[in-house]
Amino acid sequence: MTLGANAAIAPPMEEATMPAFEELLALTAGAVEDMLRRLLDERFREGEILRPAHLLAAMRHGVLNGGKRLRPFLLLESAALFEAPGAAAMRVAAALECVHCYSLIHDDLPAMDDDDLRRGQPTVHRAFDEATAILAGDALLTYAFDIIADGETELPAPVRSELVLRLARAAGLGGMVGGQALDLRAEKEPPDEAGIVQLQAMKTGALIRFACEAGAIVGGASAPDRERLSSFGAAIGLAFQLADDLLDLTATPETVGKATGKDRAAGKATLAALHGEAWARRQLKGLVSQAEELLEPYGEKAAVLRQAARFVAERTR
Ligand code: IPE
Ligand code: IPE
Ligand code: MG
Ligand code: MG
Ligand code: MG
Repeated sequence: MTLGANAAIAPPMEEATMPAFEELLALTAGAVEDMLRRLLDERFREGEILRPAHLLAAMRHGVLNGGKRLRPFLLLESAALFEAPGAAAMRVAAALECVHCYSLIHDDLPAMDDDDLRRGQPTVHRAFDEATAILAGDALLTYAFDIIADGETELPAPVRSELVLRLARAAGLGGMVGGQALDLRAEKEPPDEAGIVQLQAMKTGALIRFACEAGAIVGGASAPDRERLSSFGAAIGLAFQLADDLLDLTATPETVGKATGKDRAAGKATLAALHGEAWARRQLKGLVSQAEELLEPYGEKAAVLRQAARFVAERTR
């Protein structure tokens, strides 16, 4: 099967001859979208009773709508570093994207950020209704664990079980959801700088870190390699939210496909708001260097991941 960047471009190429990173990202996004489309078809799976059409439509609206698919990309590239089985890595990548899309659907709800635009289209509660959006998010979250646990994800059962555990920890109480709770509270009680860093490591960093660590898990990497990929993910996870906060300050809805200027309006404490744009850009450079250093042992094999780190920090969408 076509597997995005690494499988499509083997053996590893020199950075100078590598096609533009955006092209690689788009190639992988296409393959991930194909997998998500198949997973979200009408055919109900063994043990399911029915897939309600309007709920499925809302899920598809929230998933098949042109995201960058950066988390799947990081997972697939990390997996390729350890010569992981491509088809299994793709299913785990799709599962992770389901969790991410659910988090966006719920993040946009009126009780949370109250947004009308996502990926350049009406948010799910706008296109459908609030209750359907809540349920679409719920079903996507559950489906992610279904996809990983399913024997069609051809990995040894202990590996699937480890992925389920790691994803649960990254997505839940002490990860993304916990971070979202802290983020909402921060609008009323602004945290100090350490508090902001921690909440961002949770709300955004945890899933990005999981993406990189999961690639290593799928590839059967050693504990030190897993740790290294996890640290790489943590560094770019922080960079990712810092860049998101900068985009909220500086970009337009046309380029990012979502409302901007909302953090300031909500009185949200972000590092970019606290220290200013110049500081944030310096900080991003530092995080990229840190991320690149972590990849040193992998040499040329990690060239695409190094580009991904730079993309995360310099992105304009
Ligand atoms: C947006 O994530 C939400 C944050 C965690 C800041 P992305 O910027 O990856 O959104 P999509 O998936 O490309 O739409
Ligand atoms: C949300 O952060 C992170 C999630 C867990 C979804 P934001 O609220 O800043 O994300 P955007 O800007 O709406 O994409
Ligand atoms: Mg939010
Ligand atoms: Mg939001
Ligand atoms: Mg934001």
